[in-house]
Amino acid sequence: MTTQNGSAFAPAANGVDPNRVPRKTLRTGAAIPAIGLGTFGSDKYSGEEVAAAVVGAAEVGYRHFDCASVYGNEHLIGPALQTIMRGVRREDLWVTSKVWNDRHGEGQVIESCRKSLRDLRLDYLDLYLVHWPFPNSHAKGVDVSSRDPHAQPYLHENYMKTWRQMEHLVEMGLVRHIGTSNMTIPKLRLVLRDAGIKPAANEMELHPHFQQPELFRYVVDNGIVPIGYSPIGSPSRPERDRTPEDTVDIEDPVIVKIATRLGVHPAVVCVKWAVQHGQIPIPFSVKRPQYLSTLRAVVGEPLTDEEMRAVAGIDRNNRLIKGHVFLWKDGQTWEDLWDVSGEITPLDR
Ligand SMILES: NC(=O)c1ccc[n+]([C@@H]2O[C@H](COP(=O)([O-])OP(=O)(O)OC[C@H]3O[C@@H](n4cnc5c(N)ncnc54)[C@H](OP(=O)(O)O)[C@@H]3O)[C@@H](O)[C@H]2O)c1
Repeated sequence: MTTQNGSAFAPAANGVDPNRVPRKTLRTGAAIPAIGLGTFGSDKYSGEEVAAAVVGAAEVGYRHFDCASVYGNEHLIGPALQTIMRGVRREDLWVTSKVWNDRHGEGQVIESCRKSLRDLRLDYLDLYLVHWPFPNSHAKGVDVSSRDPHAQPYLHENYMKTWRQMEHLVEMGLVRHIGTSNMTIPKLRLVLRDAGIKPAANEMELHPHFQQPELFRYVVDNGIVPIGYSPIGSPSRPERDRTPEDTVDIEDPVIVKIATRLGVHPAVVCVKWAVQHGQIPIPFSVKRPQYLSTLRAVVGEPLTDEEMRAVAGIDRNNRLIKGHVFLWKDGQTWEDLWDVSGEITPLDR
C-alpha cells in the first residue's frame, strides 16, 4: 500500500477501530457512520490542510467525510481519498457532497455532480445534498449585507425541478442517496409530498444551543436521518458570520461541567451529546488531537441520563448560520429564510 508520494496509508495505532463507531440506518437500509469529518476550511484553513486532515482522520478511524463543491477543495480531497482507498475499500467509506445554489437549473445539477465526482476521484457518492433551498449565490467572503441581485424566494416548483435531477442521479447510479439541507418543516412537507425518491438525510445546524427540536422530530418521524452541522457551535467561524447575540456552546457551564467530569475539551462533549441525541455530527478540524478526541468521544463513556437532560435544558435557539446573504428583498430579516411562522415565507414578503 504505497501512495503517490511514497507513504503508506496506515491506520494509527492510537486510533479508533472503525467497526466500533456506531452507524445509523437510512431508508434504503444502508448504514452511515454516526460521525463524519466536516471539510469546510472557510477563511481559516487551506484546502491542502483540509485534504491532509481527511487522510489523517481516516488513519485514526473516520470513514465519513462531508464535502461540498462550494468549499472549493474537492479537487484536493480527491487525491486524499485515493490515498485512503489504498488501505480502505470504497464501500467502507461514506462520502457526501452538495450541489451549490448557482447550479439548480436544468442540467446543471447533473453537471455539478459529475464535476464533484471527477474532483473527488470517485465513481459514485454515498449522499448528494441540495445545499440550500434557494438558488441564490454570493461571492466568496462577502459580509452579511451582500445580496444576489437575482435572488429568489423558495419556489417549490423550481425546487422540485432540481430534485428531479437529484433523482435522476440515483437512477444513473452516480449517487446512492439524495437529501436536503437547510430546510424547514413547511418546505420538507411539500418535498415529501411530491418527491419520487424521498430525502434520505437532512443536513441542519444542530448543537447544544441550537437543538431545533421540532424540525429534528419531524425529520426523524419521516424516516429522514438528521445530519448536524456546526456541532461544536462553529467556534472558528469568520467574524462576518458572528452577531452580538450569538452564544458560545463550549463555554456553557453545563457543557464545561460534563467536560471536567470526563477530562475532555467541551467540544468533545458537544459531539458526544450529538451522537447520543440521535443526529450525525460532522465536526470540522484539521488538528489530529482534536479530530481524534472527537472520534474517541463516540466510542467512550456515554453521558448520563441526567447529563443528557441537562444539555436538553440549555437550548438557546441560537442559530449561527443565519443565511442573510440568501435574502431576496430589501427590508427582510434572516428569520424570513427559516419560515418561523410555520408557513413558507410568501414571495412578496
Ligand atoms: N450544510 C450546510 O449548509 C453546512 C453549513 C455549515 C457547516 N457545514 C458542515 O459542517 C462542518 C462543521 O461545521 P463548522 O466547521 O461550522 O463547525 P464546528 O464543527 O462546530 O466547529 C469546528 C471548530 O471547532 C474546533 N474544534 C473541533 N474539534 C475540537 C476539539 N476536539 N477540541 C477543541 N476544539 C475543537 C476547531 O476550532 P479551531 O480550528 O479554532 O481549533 C474547529 O475549527 C463543516 O466543515 C461542513 O462540512 C455544513
